[in-house]
Amino acid sequence: MCGIVGYIGNKEAYPIILNGLKRLEYRGYDSAGVALYDGTTIQMAKTKGKVADLEARVAKEIATSGKLGIGHTRWATHGVPNDINSHPHYSNSGDLVIIHNGIIENYASIKKELINRGYTFKSDTDTEVLVNLIEEIKKKENVKLGKAVQIALNQVIGAYAIVLFDRNKPDEIVVAKLGSPLAIGIGDEEFFVASDATPFIEFTNNAIYLEDEEMAIIRLKKGVKVRKIKDDSLVDPYIQELQLNLEQIEKGGYDHFMLKEIYEQPSVIKDTYRGRLLADQGIIRLGGLEDHIKKFTNAQRIIIVACGTSWHAGLVAEYIFEEWARIPVEVEYASEFRYRNPIISDKDVVIAISQSGETADTLAAIKLAKQRGAFVYGVCNVVGSTISRETDSGTYTHAGPEIGVASTKAFTTQITVLTMIALRLAKDKGSISQSDYMKHLRELEMIPTLVSEALKEEEKIKEIAAVFKDARNFLYLGRGYNFPVALEGALKLKEISYIHAEGYPAAEMKHGPIALIDEQMPVVVIAVNSNHYEKVVSNIEEIKARKGKIIAVVTEGDTEVKELADYIMEVPRTPESLSPLVTTIPLQLLSYHIALMLGKNVDQPRNLAKSVTVE
Ligand code: G6P
Repeated sequence: MCGIVGYIGNKEAYPIILNGLKRLEYRGYDSAGVALYDGTTIQMAKTKGKVADLEARVAKEIATSGKLGIGHTRWATHGVPNDINSHPHYSNSGDLVIIHNGIIENYASIKKELINRGYTFKSDTDTEVLVNLIEEIKKKENVKLGKAVQIALNQVIGAYAIVLFDRNKPDEIVVAKLGSPLAIGIGDEEFFVASDATPFIEFTNNAIYLEDEEMAIIRLKKGVKVRKIKDDSLVDPYIQELQLNLEQIEKGGYDHFMLKEIYEQPSVIKDTYRGRLLADQGIIRLGGLEDHIKKFTNAQRIIIVACGTSWHAGLVAEYIFEEWARIPVEVEYASEFRYRNPIISDKDVVIAISQSGETADTLAAIKLAKQRGAFVYGVCNVVGSTISRETDSGTYTHAGPEIGVASTKAFTTQITVLTMIALRLAKDKGSISQSDYMKHLRELEMIPTLVSEALKEEEKIKEIAAVFKDARNFLYLGRGYNFPVALEGALKLKEISYIHAEGYPAAEMKHGPIALIDEQMPVVVIAVNSNHYEKVVSNIEEIKARKGKIIAVVTEGDTEVKELADYIMEVPRTPESLSPLVTTIPLQLLSYHIALMLGKNVDQPRNLAKSVTVE
């Protein structure tokens, strides 16, 4: 993962790099570092810890002048997160300086070879090996930096987004990409490079997103030259106009991005269906779907591949697609699918769901499905992301930047997109009556209002959080459409509070988890009005009989579960198939408040990263 940022231009680089690193910190926060070059001296500072720690170290240790700079925030892969393993890394001569996001898989053999040739290494990283390989090629072949990078990258196996510069070339930086994202911002006599566009959004709206196996040489006066790494051929890059704005990537008065993003859900769900769902006219129109409807309606099967929260959205979609569109659905962890020799054919449609659009396992699953002839459809949030480009077609969720590492609004907007797809297919297939179709469109349009209602429970949820914040374990139970919500609720709690939590289908409880229940065990049960209501009530009785503490998510006005539960979190009445969009809200708030009360870093939980570009 890791976040990388670079600048070359007419401004002081340090404030731009520092601010950029803060915006990219969601990508990793084990360590951070910066190198600045003023044409005479290279200044470097690096430290274990967060960007704030780097800022403090820079203030004490180095001068910050220089109009060329690179910075890195790390999610450790090779080597423990300490000062030495932090990026940037120098080459042995001290001339080349590099930052890297990714993994060089064959670094050990290259390192051995370089050691034989007299190279020494300070860190345990694969990155330091790469920069020395480039240096060795540059010297041995007597070529310029760009050419040396190209030759070196043809020798490495792995994934990378790299940025490097040469002490002898103060007006040039070189970047390259394979598997990890890299955007180049094009300003007025200044250039930015970064893992995403957020570090340069206030300076320019024009960006080039490098494709895999492309590199670029960026020269101050001459601009950007993009080449293919394999054969050195020149590429005419597409300059994209960015739609991002600064407000979207700031906290906007909230204490945390996660809370902001939870509260944004009513408006971003609306953004997701705006212009696509016209309930009065009975229309669902999704740009990416229109030309491919037949592929879906004729599909023998839909396979959904995703990871983490996106996988949970896929599970919700399984219920919705099968119920309405009557197409068999399988939901797979991308990481398992890619290594399983799955049976796929051109009669299958694969839907890849990914907030970031960069998840390595999901990307590999897509490539495999495409190789075997399936039509691959993407549901991504980040516009221009690798998955959105690799898929045959797709629909963006339009949730806006999600910065809190624990995913919230991405989940509900993914479900919104998938619901629209299912309804549209159902209509085209004729597997749903016109009146039910119209009813569901109107119900979907009501969801933002119902989510706003659900958010009003926050104060009550805070009180429940205070009671259970010291629990060591939690169980989350749900049935049908709300089984994936139970999984997602448990994941949210684990991710940000580090409390062990398990999600289970309520009826499966008796096959194992029931053994865990005692008077210490909080059990969160999603018990809203549904076809399974009475069954869930029985499950609650079973928990009660074993003295478990019941926290129930119930429909407003419910009396039966209210009687049985120790605590309740009410949500407005919602049609069952759309209820995950609403029942997930109190669970997001519960984990947020527990983590907050425990003093955890809500937006940047330990060991996690927002965009997982390693397998
Ligand atoms: C990471 C994030 C999760 C996310 C998962 C999949 O683990 O921390 O929040 O659900 O990756 O990411 P994607 O961007 O593909 O949805």
